[in-house]
Amino acid sequence: MKKLIAGNWKMNGALAANEALLRSLITGLSGVAPAADMAVCVPAPYLAQVQSLLSGTPVAWGAQDVSAHEQGAYTGEVSGAMLKDFACRYAIVGHSERRQFHGETDALVAAKAQRALGLGITPIVCVGETLAEREAGDTEQVVKRQLAAVIHAVAHCTSEIVLAYEPVWAIGTGKTATPEQAQHVHAVLRKQLSAATQHPERVHILYGGSMNATNAASLLAQPDIDGGLIGGASLKADDFLRIVAASPAV
Ligand code: 13P
Repeated sequence: MKKLIAGNWKMNGALAANEALLRSLITGLSGVAPAADMAVCVPAPYLAQVQSLLSGTPVAWGAQDVSAHEQGAYTGEVSGAMLKDFACRYAIVGHSERRQFHGETDALVAAKAQRALGLGITPIVCVGETLAEREAGDTEQVVKRQLAAVIHAVAHCTSEIVLAYEPVWAIGTGKTATPEQAQHVHAVLRKQLSAATQHPERVHILYGGSMNATNAASLLAQPDIDGGLIGGASLKADDFLRIVAASPAV
């Protein structure tokens, strides 16, 4: 399967900086057959800009969240239908920063994944353990619980999600999971997917957490690491392109 390298810009960006970044990406990709599929998940106010700059390029785009509600009196929320208006292919759901700082529960994350799928948007479902959970030996139990909620909600559509394993202790810290640590959890998740879908091998399982141009190749060489969800390094065109180029050929 071709790897998927997705940038998560988080709450970063500005009109001028976005344009410079995306133009550098496009220039860097011209004349090369990209080694991986690519996407950027950007703050909602920039979706129109990103759509206009990336239409017709090999880089897809998406949002970083989607409301579990369809429409109505939910101040501040952005609906899936609104994301569709800007041709989003992806929406991240259940990022640990939303679970931690915005109180998102497994059930809410599952509802968001279901809402996205219903609109033809691929949810990038994030799971991952905190440092305390890892140290207590609870990593597998935590990620399985987080994924189980989504499988329960989306049922036969499970093969249409993208899953991202993002150990919380590795996010923005410069501490990457070793390829072996990540592969181990990815294999656990793949096994769980196989009980829910006949084609678990079709689900991209991305690794996220301080992935960068230097460590990407060894992570992406693992059999169950199907790509990356890139935070900090996705804000620099050169780094992002080097991660894409580090993807093994299929
Ligand atoms: P960093 O790559 O900055 O560690 O962030 C990872 C992440 O949270 C992507 O969603």
